[in-house]
Amino acid sequence: MSFFSSVALAPDDPILGLTDAWLADPRSPKVNLGVGVYYDADGRQVLPESVMRAEATLTARRRARSYIPIDGLPDYDSATQRLVFGEDCAAAAEGRVVTAQTLGGTGALRVGADFLKATLPFAKVAISQPSWPNHQVLFRAAGFEIGNYPYYHADSHGVDFDAMLAALLAMDAGTVVLLHACCHNPTGADLSTAQWREVAGAVRDRGLLPFVDMAYQGFDRGIAEDAQGIAILLEAGVENLLVANSCSKSFSLYGERVGALSLVCASADEARRVRSQVKQTIRANYSNPPTHGAALVATILGDPDLRAQWEEEVGQMRGRIKAMRNGLVARLAALGHPEFAFINRQAGMFTYSGLSPAQVQRLRDEFAIYAVSSGRICVSALNEANLDYVADAIARVAG
Ligand code: LMR
Repeated sequence: MSFFSSVALAPDDPILGLTDAWLADPRSPKVNLGVGVYYDADGRQVLPESVMRAEATLTARRRARSYIPIDGLPDYDSATQRLVFGEDCAAAAEGRVVTAQTLGGTGALRVGADFLKATLPFAKVAISQPSWPNHQVLFRAAGFEIGNYPYYHADSHGVDFDAMLAALLAMDAGTVVLLHACCHNPTGADLSTAQWREVAGAVRDRGLLPFVDMAYQGFDRGIAEDAQGIAILLEAGVENLLVANSCSKSFSLYGERVGALSLVCASADEARRVRSQVKQTIRANYSNPPTHGAALVATILGDPDLRAQWEEEVGQMRGRIKAMRNGLVARLAALGHPEFAFINRQAGMFTYSGLSPAQVQRLRDEFAIYAVSSGRICVSALNEANLDYVADAIARVAG
């Protein structure tokens, strides 16, 4: 009798599982609009020139691969902190911000969730409705009770801001509120500057604890612009907040698993204690993070020339995604579907198409086009060679 005989078969991951299914699909053409990965105009995954140059620098240095500190490479942590909080952040200058390298943005969320569970065991977590499906999974795995707050307004394809604000104002003090810094995943509907200010006021006045997920910095307006919500929360006097950021998309370093968790504390002394606990969380989990991806990012961010090139390359990715949005909207309009014009108003890698799970299934069954069942489509997987095919298929399933 096996010890594992009672183990049930888990469902495929709603996003990463699509890539497995797409790879196994023998049909041609086939298009993977599932996972959030940037592809270039030829449908290839890119390694930015700035990353290749940093790679050459590191190779020439022939570095040994010792263990790095539990909380990551110091150069990476400090450069990432400036990327996330800007160059003039008072909390950072006062030594109140702890930044620790993590295994991607997901690792940052999980380390943060584990730290919060140990520190605030009775706190609830509130996640936008809808959100990236793994938010729910990982906070639940950390032992939290999860609630949702309204976020998306299906008719306007924008943020249901009044409902969101009312929900924030009704939350129990101490609730951890998961916010998306920019390029909301999956909807692409972001808060305006004025709305961020109102959210910051509500968070402060209700005594909520914001946990900001920033996986797409640079994919909407720019590096500093996309982090504005974090600056606004701090300006409003929010004392504590957490940020999970990722280098997967912005540096195209998906498989290197590079991200960071930052925690803003009330004092430098508190930050010292918080860092010690975050390190314990990491040590008990994977001991310490890997070297290479973080060394690449630190090299790029620490060299003005490489940094300028990287920002330019992020700008090109951003521009190509916007062009693909335009292309999809124009083609759909030409096929008699002007109602998809909202796609041009969405930000980031995704469009929340409004297609139903049944329509998404038809895309897969009849056209070998894979999308997330929520209707989320990865716009950066579109290119001139597949736009007509995808638009035509969407027009057909949309009826
Ligand atoms: C996505 O939302 O597609 C990405 O963040 C990849 C993932 O891990 O789900």
